[in-house]
Amino acid sequence: MILYGSSTTVGIALSETLHLHGLSKPNFLVGCSVLSSHQPAGIAGFGRGLSSLPSQLGLGKFSYCLLARRFDDDTKKSSSLVLDIEQLDSGKKTNALVYTPFMKNPKVEDKSSFSVYYYLGLRRITIGGHHVKMPYKYLSPGEDGNGGVIIDSATTFTFIAREAFEPLSDEFIRQITDYKRIKEFEDVTGLGPCFNVSDAKTVSFPELRLYFKGGADVALPVENYFAFVGGGVACLTMVTGPERVDGPGMILGSFQMQNFYVEYDLRNERLGFKQEKCK
Ligand SMILES: *[C@@H]1O[C@H](CO)[C@@H](O)[C@H](O)[C@H]1NC(C)=O
Repeated sequence: MILYGSSTTVGIALSETLHLHGLSKPNFLVGCSVLSSHQPAGIAGFGRGLSSLPSQLGLGKFSYCLLARRFDDDTKKSSSLVLDIEQLDSGKKTNALVYTPFMKNPKVEDKSSFSVYYYLGLRRITIGGHHVKMPYKYLSPGEDGNGGVIIDSATTFTFIAREAFEPLSDEFIRQITDYKRIKEFEDVTGLGPCFNVSDAKTVSFPELRLYFKGGADVALPVENYFAFVGGGVACLTMVTGPERVDGPGMILGSFQMQNFYVEYDLRNERLGFKQEKCK
């Protein structure tokens, strides 16, 4: 089963009784996709939509710990998922987690799909201690609903709108002087910048740190943002798109959440996380 954080799938809707660890939930809405190839057997929606699993079960909380994956990995091992059906709200924080509040979703007529996303307040990003200047409109949703930062486990590599991605990519290129940049690999993999690290005894890249509202900041483990793609070449595992696109300015993907315990505390409208070796 694949976890869908904020994406939407189209198919036929049916009503079934769901049985889950002693819990029985009648009139549980499930979707049957009409056509799929090379797809997993099941997909569960975990967004804010009314038909998502947390909404239908009335979950107060859910959490996951995503196993580390290599770039070319096709292991069958799966990550753990915890659903909290308990109705009582202690309001307590889970031990050792840092929290950042979910931000309000933009309310825009023709963009109702944005209402299922989990928006986060990302204040700033530093690379090797240097503040990366990104246009504010990408970090925070505007009047038109575009921009803002969401977290989505269904997105593999973090997506950053082009105008915000370029300063980030430029800063890595500016600071990484020990390795030769290999542009050919960027065209092939769609990732970049890419560097030839084959001669290095120990590979080191500048620290990438994210500062979220509420005082939650995190330095990502380097394997969460650089990956070997073969031939002694390592690439930044974040992607961008065409010049102008509708939607969030940044989508934090699952590759960047590897070996993090991530808790969606829906009762208290906040996201908690901590680094952990996921099993
Ligand atoms: C990377 O560097 C090594 C040694 O300098 C070289 O042999 C190899 O061809 C380079 N790889 C690429 C993809 O350019």
